[in-house]
Amino acid sequence: MVGGGGREHALALALARTAEVVVCRSGSGLRPGSGSAAHLEPGSDTAFGSAAAGAGTAAPTGPVRTGREGAILAVESPLAGVVPGGHRVIVTDAPPEEVDAGLVIIGPEQPLVDGLADRLRAWGRLVFGPGADGAQLEGSKAFMKHLLSDAGVPTARFGVFDEVAEAVAFLRELDGPWVVKTDGLAAGKGVLVTEDRDEAEADVRAKLSGAAFGDAGRTVVIEEGLVGRECSLLVVTDGTRVVPLPVARDAKRIGDGDTGPNTGGMGAFSPVPDVDDRLVDRVLDEAVEPTLAALRRRGIDYRGVLYAGLMLTADGPRMLEYNVRFGDPETQVVLPRVDDDLAGLLAEAAAGRLRSEPAVSPDAAVCVVLAAGNYPGAPRTGDVIEGIDAVAALPGVTVVHAGTVLDPEGAVRTAGGRVLGVVGRGADLADARRRAYGACERLDWPGMQYRHDIAAAAVAGLDGSSGGSGRGGGGRGGGGGGGGGGRSDAGADVASGLDPGSRRRGAR
Ligand code: AMP
Ligand code: GLY
Repeated sequence: MVGGGGREHALALALARTAEVVVCRSGSGLRPGSGSAAHLEPGSDTAFGSAAAGAGTAAPTGPVRTGREGAILAVESPLAGVVPGGHRVIVTDAPPEEVDAGLVIIGPEQPLVDGLADRLRAWGRLVFGPGADGAQLEGSKAFMKHLLSDAGVPTARFGVFDEVAEAVAFLRELDGPWVVKTDGLAAGKGVLVTEDRDEAEADVRAKLSGAAFGDAGRTVVIEEGLVGRECSLLVVTDGTRVVPLPVARDAKRIGDGDTGPNTGGMGAFSPVPDVDDRLVDRVLDEAVEPTLAALRRRGIDYRGVLYAGLMLTADGPRMLEYNVRFGDPETQVVLPRVDDDLAGLLAEAAAGRLRSEPAVSPDAAVCVVLAAGNYPGAPRTGDVIEGIDAVAALPGVTVVHAGTVLDPEGAVRTAGGRVLGVVGRGADLADARRRAYGACERLDWPGMQYRHDIAAAAVAGLDGSSGGSGRGGGGRGGGGGGGGGGRSDAGADVASGLDPGSRRRGAR
């Protein structure tokens, strides 16, 4: 697995139930345009600069055999260990190009946009994650919005601009709220949603001038603001068939009650009581499958996870955005509910032979992100985290490391903005939430901050649901007919006007 954050730790914990996992925390040894790709062959003894290594003071723990390519060096890391009843998680600063894995999973969006999946596939690797072509769904919001339009997927009205005058004229055509986005990647921070049109106009100028986000902002997407609750639907796909994972909802702003600036994500929960299987089916039929068909028409063979960020409006679900990787921190609550061989499922998708329908647990999971002082500004780092061992021993609690290092004495220290994800798992959301927050109260370091209201509305039934129950996601298709499960293009069914609910097979 490529990447070393909270999402990747959650993935590693789930994958290691059925497979040995090597985490390449520093990412690829190759940078686009470095020119070295052409000279690298799997198994060659090309030396990679360890300057590319991620944060960490970990001491090497020695060579680890990974197959025909010989040895890589494992390093000490809070992510390393053995999953009870499962396999090892090994962490290395070696690039993924050097690891002879049966399956490569690329965690973060940047290497996907940079074409790492294409390079690894060209060397014969089995890769879970789209190539640079499919990754444009996240790498360029203009590409995504045009594709959604072509595919007829319901989404916010939009325009794409690189000139201030035209952009401002379009803003004035729209009723508020107004949304201004950088076209390119901006670590989740390139989106302004505002009720103040002057602020939107100023933001357009800051982005287009390059002052705010460099080249990523020299093209902007302007959208009408949609109102509703959001949810995240992650589907595993081999380019044709799709398997939906359990639905999650994340919290993006730093403060309780959704106040303050946006962050990379302060918490998440699953299931989402106000999202039922019918809604999931509708999104698959009206959005996900038409999107995959539109990708195929462009010659794009998309194998990986497609993350649909949805706004549930009074007029029905609207696609806000696609991401081309697992959500963070959604992964931390989605994967514990997948009661199956995750590595096998992802390998099937990577091979273009998605057949499994994973069993989904009726349990609930709640993740509370513990962030460093001053986050989402430049975080305070280097503090020792108190209480981590005691908390890890609590029943139904898992601590996911997002921004930590082991110091030479073996203490875990803060090393990033989002430091830990504390995941509680229980019979329902209230139970899972109690466990997560019970653990948070036992952890401490100077400046630690977290939200106190993750899943609170869902537990209280303030979200339009009857409260606390509901599954959301999972349990679609699978097992029916002779051709194996999964789900193939449902275009014909949609055209025939069949009620999507009536096509459900093997629902649990
Ligand atoms: P994006 O990266 O496009 O998902 O935008 C980040 C966040 O901005 C979303 O999760 C929403 O909370 C918000 N957002 C994006 N687009 C819109 C929209 N058209 N209307 C309202 N909120 C939006
Ligand atoms: N949770 C938001 C994201 O992963 O982009």
